[in-house]
Amino acid sequence: MSEHQHGTTRQPATTRDSYDELYRSAPAVWTGRPNGQLVREATDLPPGTALDAGAGEGGDALWLASRGWRVTAVDFSPVALERGAAKAAELRLADRIDWRHEDLDTWAPPEAAFDLVTAHYLHSSWTDREAMFRRLAAAVAPGGTLLVVGHQHGEGWGHGHAHEPGALYSADDVAAVLDPAQWTDVVTETRDRDPDAAHRTGNPVPDTVLVARRR
Ligand SMILES: C[S@@+](CC[C@H](N)C(=O)[O-])C[C@H]1O[C@@H](n2cnc3c(N)ncnc32)[C@H](O)[C@@H]1O
Repeated sequence: MSEHQHGTTRQPATTRDSYDELYRSAPAVWTGRPNGQLVREATDLPPGTALDAGAGEGGDALWLASRGWRVTAVDFSPVALERGAAKAAELRLADRIDWRHEDLDTWAPPEAAFDLVTAHYLHSSWTDREAMFRRLAAAVAPGGTLLVVGHQHGEGWGHGHAHEPGALYSADDVAAVLDPAQWTDVVTETRDRDPDAAHRTGNPVPDTVLVARRR
């Protein structure tokens, strides 16, 4: 999933209005399939409660729900949330996903409440991005997993964000907010992007990936 040029010269979205406009521009912006890093990290986790931050059209939330997770899917785009909810109803997963219209720039999820907190390509205009990552980390329950994935800074896609430099983050940026006393097995890596997603969106930029377990 994720890049959204679709043959136009549109700048990448970073605000609620620009994301809504992006979602309105096509019946489905993303592939509908789960992100590759989520599949890699969550396939072997026992199902529990998950928070999908910036859930978009819900590909990840739907995949988690289909595997028995109870998911809170948060996004500030009502267009995206409606799409996800419609798909959940179609797949008879509606009772497993709570679609929440919240702005992660200010919204604080419940603390220590989720076995998995996952965020993919949360490229946006933040008042305080570190504080946002700190709130997501605080939402992970003891023994739970934090997974944050972004597009790595690069010539191609990263260059498109020149108008909003804070929109891009690295795995190390996320790791920097984690208190080592509270986290273990912290991994920060650059990984190849899911080739299907890269092919469909024309964005081959590798993923920057943070995975960590809460003690
Ligand atoms: C690039 S999309 C990725 C969507 C989804 N995670 C995926 O991989 O398909 C980023 C998503 O984050 C949402 N988003 C960005 N900033 C947000 C904010 N401040 N609060 C809530 N959602 C936000 C956007 O509306 C968009 O759906």
